[in-house]
Amino acid sequence: MIRFLLDQELIELTSVSPDLTVLDWLRIHRQRTGTKEGCGSGDCGACTVVLASVDETKGGQPQLSYQSINSCITFVGALHGKQLITVESLATDGELHPVQQCMVNEHGSQCGFCTPGFVMSLYALYQQDADTEILKTKVEQALGGNLCRCTGYRPIIQAAENALDIKESAKDQPELSAKESTTINKLVQINEEPASIVGFYQPDNLPAFATYLQNNPTARILAGGTDLALEVTQQMRDLPSIVSVNAVPELKSIQLRDNHIELGAAVTLNECMSVLQGRIPGSRELLLRFGSDQVRNQGTIGGNIGSASPIGDLPPLLIALHANITLQKGDDVRTLALEDHYLGYRQTTLQSGEFIRSVSIPLPAAESHFSVHKISKRTDDDISSVCLAVHLPMHNGVVNNARLAFGGMAATPVRAKDAEDRLNGTKFSQASVLQAQQAIAMELKPLSDARASAAYRLQVAQNLLQRVLLEVQSS
Ligand SMILES: Cc1cc2nc3c(=O)[nH]c(=O)nc-3n(C[C@H](O)[C@H](O)[C@H](O)COP(=O)(O)OP(=O)(O)OC[C@H]3O[C@@H](n4cnc5c(N)ncnc54)[C@H](O)[C@@H]3O)c2cc1C
Ligand code: FES
Ligand code: FES
Repeated sequence: MIRFLLDQELIELTSVSPDLTVLDWLRIHRQRTGTKEGCGSGDCGACTVVLASVDETKGGQPQLSYQSINSCITFVGALHGKQLITVESLATDGELHPVQQCMVNEHGSQCGFCTPGFVMSLYALYQQDADTEILKTKVEQALGGNLCRCTGYRPIIQAAENALDIKESAKDQPELSAKESTTINKLVQINEEPASIVGFYQPDNLPAFATYLQNNPTARILAGGTDLALEVTQQMRDLPSIVSVNAVPELKSIQLRDNHIELGAAVTLNECMSVLQGRIPGSRELLLRFGSDQVRNQGTIGGNIGSASPIGDLPPLLIALHANITLQKGDDVRTLALEDHYLGYRQTTLQSGEFIRSVSIPLPAAESHFSVHKISKRTDDDISSVCLAVHLPMHNGVVNNARLAFGGMAATPVRAKDAEDRLNGTKFSQASVLQAQQAIAMELKPLSDARASAAYRLQVAQNLLQRVLLEVQSS
């Protein structure tokens, strides 16, 4: 059974299709049509809803954590053990929620169609447990996955700031309302049983997950679904058998060691950002440009590696740092360098019944330059045309063991090994960069596609190395 709360109502689903999206469930099965469908691919935010889940990590009493997600690319199984909140949920006793009232006051609803999505993204921000001034700095981030194509964001941003001021003035209210306590109790109870219906299984421990996948190797592994669900909504495929990583604690673990970080495959991209920022230069800036908050709340590091896209954003960063991945099949575990995992376009060493368990990320060497650069057509909520991550360990200015890892420059994420050779053993200078740029032109053969031509990509790749030189010279 899949069990979750729709507001305070307990929903128990026993016979739905495992690839039914939350959006379709809401609109078709429940006639909750406030949530809109714009793109059906996670790009526009019109379908944004909020999930509340129990967060035990903050010490003291459990709290609810609120996250915006795109309901068009979320399967109903992902609701298990959570509370689903839609735009219809917000008004109480006929009184609009502050984010709704402020949108009205500021004329933030222009076309109207995208408005429920904007409201839900702002509601997720409003519900965050942080100081008002900090939340105000996150308004644009919270709205990065909601597209307004008619007039503009100014009234919407103003509405967000006004709503946060209202929250600040209501600060004296008890921290946890009676309603939230009830929700927590209900969710804790629901989570005692793992989700399981025909075609969908969400085990709650690693041995159960590994055994299930070994015995059902055709089951598709579901993490955030931000790639997988597109097979259903864009390619019109059926996914009759799904196994989810999302309730396996071992796959969600985060371990900070002296010189490396170990992340479970199901750690979300927003969780990755909290861990990597301040430890790996440029990681926060890269991850802030990875999709949108909705995508980062759902999408995982394991899914980014598992989708094996040549333009995935994390593989270049991870390969430049010489990251290893640990794979598991049944009880058998193996570890390999991430760069060796990719065999060809969307082909990897992953065997039938095997899964990515964790990623081990060495921190940049003490005396080194590390940076990462994403070039895309649009700054926010867009996929890379080219991504370069550079790790240049240096001793007295001489480079040793340089690693240049590119996305968008071949059928897989790749290192430019000849270019690295030109940098190794020399001072990082204009002369060595020129040599490396020539090597890049010889060894990398990018594709032309809708995002960029091969010639553009090659030029950008070379220019990015020049940018790295300027960074090093100015640091
Ligand atoms: C609007 C939008 C914007 C996006 N922007 C970006 C972007 O800026 N940069 C970028 O790199 N990507 C982007 N993506 C793609 C996607 O969000 C990422 O690739 C994300 O990391 C996928 O993670 P997931 O957890 O959602 O994977 P899922 O969709 O759940 O899975 C992806 C694939 O990996 C497999 N898989 C998942 N977990 C495992 C595991 N533990 N072991 C083995 N296989 C596994 C799945 O079976 C599936 O084949 C975007 C997607 C959307 C919809
Ligand atoms: S409908 Fe566009 S993001 Fe879901
Ligand atoms: S308000 Fe809907 S597109 Fe601008």
